[in-house]
Amino acid sequence: MRIELAERVKKLPPYIFAELEKIINEKKRQGVDLISLSIGDPDFSPPKFILEALAEESSNPKNHNYSFSQGEPEFKEAVAEWYKGRFGVDLDPKSEVIALIGSKEGLANIARAFVNPGDKVLVPNPAYPVYANGATILSEGVPMVMPLLEENDFRPDVESLAEMNLENVKMMFLNYPNNPTGSVMDKMSLKQIVDFAEENNIIVCYDNAYSEITFDGYKAPSILEVEGGKDVAIEFHSCSKTFSMTGDRIGFAVGNRDIINGLLKIKAQVDSGPPRYTQRVAVRALKRYVNGEPPEYVKEIARIYGERREELVKGLRRLGLECKKPLATFYVWVKCGEDSMKFSQRLLDVGVVTTPGIGFGEYGEGYIRFSVTQPKEKIREACERMEKVL
Ligand SMILES: Cc1ncc(COP(=O)(O)O)c(C=O)c1O
Repeated sequence: MRIELAERVKKLPPYIFAELEKIINEKKRQGVDLISLSIGDPDFSPPKFILEALAEESSNPKNHNYSFSQGEPEFKEAVAEWYKGRFGVDLDPKSEVIALIGSKEGLANIARAFVNPGDKVLVPNPAYPVYANGATILSEGVPMVMPLLEENDFRPDVESLAEMNLENVKMMFLNYPNNPTGSVMDKMSLKQIVDFAEENNIIVCYDNAYSEITFDGYKAPSILEVEGGKDVAIEFHSCSKTFSMTGDRIGFAVGNRDIINGLLKIKAQVDSGPPRYTQRVAVRALKRYVNGEPPEYVKEIARIYGERREELVKGLRRLGLECKKPLATFYVWVKCGEDSMKFSQRLLDVGVVTTPGIGFGEYGEGYIRFSVTQPKEKIREACERMEKVL
């Protein structure tokens, strides 16, 4: 039998890191002590209250039946309450909230609900690859690149977007605080985006997965805080980074009820919602917020990521590398001024693993992403090692 992939799957870009992974595995085999500053997975344990809640909720037999595709009522109510406290936005838990098996699932599935074959989708570049691939290409849509340039603080230039041919543009993805650039958003720029979307009938999918990992007093806004936001947008959130529980797969989306309903139509056909026990744990976690103020654990991890970021930025600048100190996320986006794959390979020669910017799209070329998911001492050692090759 000849097994052939579907055309839409063939359109997915080649896996760009294959060569680099081969080198990393070879180094590991040789016993080289690698310092990984490449992954977007927290090195912290989840807080004790989550581990205890998980043990308790998962040992309750009642929590092992199918849950609802849209999420348990109690979970959706807790999300609405958290949202009100954190962003001051009212949500109807019944129609404006949906549970997700991690936000990645929702970001991919949303396009299937609204994108027809050949429709265009505005996707930022550089960006988390799901927007262009898992969402757009796998829905037979066509990604339309929105360059995120340094001179615009890695935000889309809405004025030049408005001048483009926007025929058949159905949807746009945005992500702030941003992976990979660490750039952030303000409400004025969000208002510009909401107005642009309203004028051009474009659904905005706003990825706010890093809303709680912020520094130096910066608080990430929600697109729903902006006047008209709920008319055009759905916003994606996650417990993954906030509570260091990436493997537990629990997130949610909120916003315009028709957009939420579209996502629900897809999810009702492809999954049966996150496990009831993870939803019950997430309820307890969200309830730890008091009047929008995060619990001690979230403040503490943000403080530590912030300190590591200081250490890394200081070290990189000493090495003559250009980078901004980000106000959010655990990423530092660094200009390397050359082929990012080659640059990353040079750092690998001294056992420092980073992510070449090209992996996030062509506008990521010339940059490297460092993640500060290692203790400060390791970051310091990585900088010392890099000095040998830079
Ligand atoms: C920008 C962004 N959005 C969403 C996600 C997915 O998070 P999860 O599916 O764990 O909620 C990630 C994960 O790295 C991310 O970087």
